[in-house]
Amino acid sequence: MQEAREMRILLVIGGGIAAYKASELVRLIRRDGGSVTCVLTEAGSRFVTPLTLAALSENQVHTTLWDLKNEVEMGHIRLSREADLVVVCPATADLMARMATGMANDLATTLLLATDKPVLAVPAMNVRMWLHPATQANLATLRSRGVTVMDPDEGAMACGEFGPGRLPEPEAILAQIRAMLAPIRPLSGRHVVITAGPTHEPIDPVRYIANRSSGQQGFALAAAAAAAGARVTLIAGPVHLPSPPGVERVDVETAVQMAAAVDAALPCDVAIMVAAVADWRVADAAGRKRKKDGTGQVAPLDLVENPDILAGLGHAAHKPQLLIGFAAETDDVIAHATAKLARKGADWIIANDVSGDVMGGTNNTVHIVSAVGVESLPRMAKTAVAEVLIAKVVDALA
Ligand code: C5P
Repeated sequence: MQEAREMRILLVIGGGIAAYKASELVRLIRRDGGSVTCVLTEAGSRFVTPLTLAALSENQVHTTLWDLKNEVEMGHIRLSREADLVVVCPATADLMARMATGMANDLATTLLLATDKPVLAVPAMNVRMWLHPATQANLATLRSRGVTVMDPDEGAMACGEFGPGRLPEPEAILAQIRAMLAPIRPLSGRHVVITAGPTHEPIDPVRYIANRSSGQQGFALAAAAAAAGARVTLIAGPVHLPSPPGVERVDVETAVQMAAAVDAALPCDVAIMVAAVADWRVADAAGRKRKKDGTGQVAPLDLVENPDILAGLGHAAHKPQLLIGFAAETDDVIAHATAKLARKGADWIIANDVSGDVMGGTNNTVHIVSAVGVESLPRMAKTAVAEVLIAKVVDALA
């Protein structure tokens, strides 16, 4: 099994002596293949320096709302949007009190108020501060709002007292982080190969055979699979689209190159062949530009069939666990897709009617054709189609 997309942790460090242990947590998350962005409260920066955290996380460290380069772009929202989980460690009595009352008087509390991501708070404080009814009430409030709060360890404390209030060991915090991320990363540990876009088949150095595929549906699927935790190899024909975050992209031009890139990306657990691969290529693409010869006669283009990448996988000895093809049709959509299911050896064919504005457009209407029948989805954005299909992939692999 290959490495999944890294987990992205936004780590808020409060001001307590246990802050030094947050550095160890950063190191463990990095060793586990995750990325960490640190946010230090004013008090936190008295215990651990931004430089230490920047070196350990290999990432920029944020300390105030006003150091985010572009607050017009809502930097505090971006920080949370780019994370899978927000971890508050150590969560001091003061920080938990501010979280519980909904204060937003620094970067840490502002992003904690604004985030829609799961939050893990790891308290550490003096035993009497921990047992104080005010802290316990704040704790209950946070838990009632869905914040996961780890129980502190019991033992000797930096202040010389004994009891509950010690920060749990960084290994235990990492285990909690992994457990919380498991449900939102259901494709973790899976490798998904996706082809997208058209192919260009050269006629000569300046001309080629192409089609109207924009690559949007394949790119949306790659983004959704990566967001679900998969390691994604996206093999893209010539398109003008940015790479989705966390996706390994291989750019190709022709069907033959696409087939070779798919081959090189194997093995995989799931293959989703979305590309509109040209059926034919020019047998003897000229090395020089073809010219009119003045006779009015046009030398015919000699075409040969391209390799069928999907069928190649469908009939391979090591077929992916789930093999999905697309069928762009202008008529008899379901009948053609059903015939392709068997012919190509695919598990599902996603049939779509491209007689309208689908190719190059942002919406799609698809029918999932499989051995168990046909499920038709309503017309929706290609990004929404991708979310639904990846959720079905998750179910199928479970
Ligand atoms: O036969 P047709 O081109 O309609 O089949 C469409 C499906 O087959 C798509 O999933 C497409 O990516 C795949 N395909 C392929 N290699 C080809 C032709 C189609 O992988 N040469």
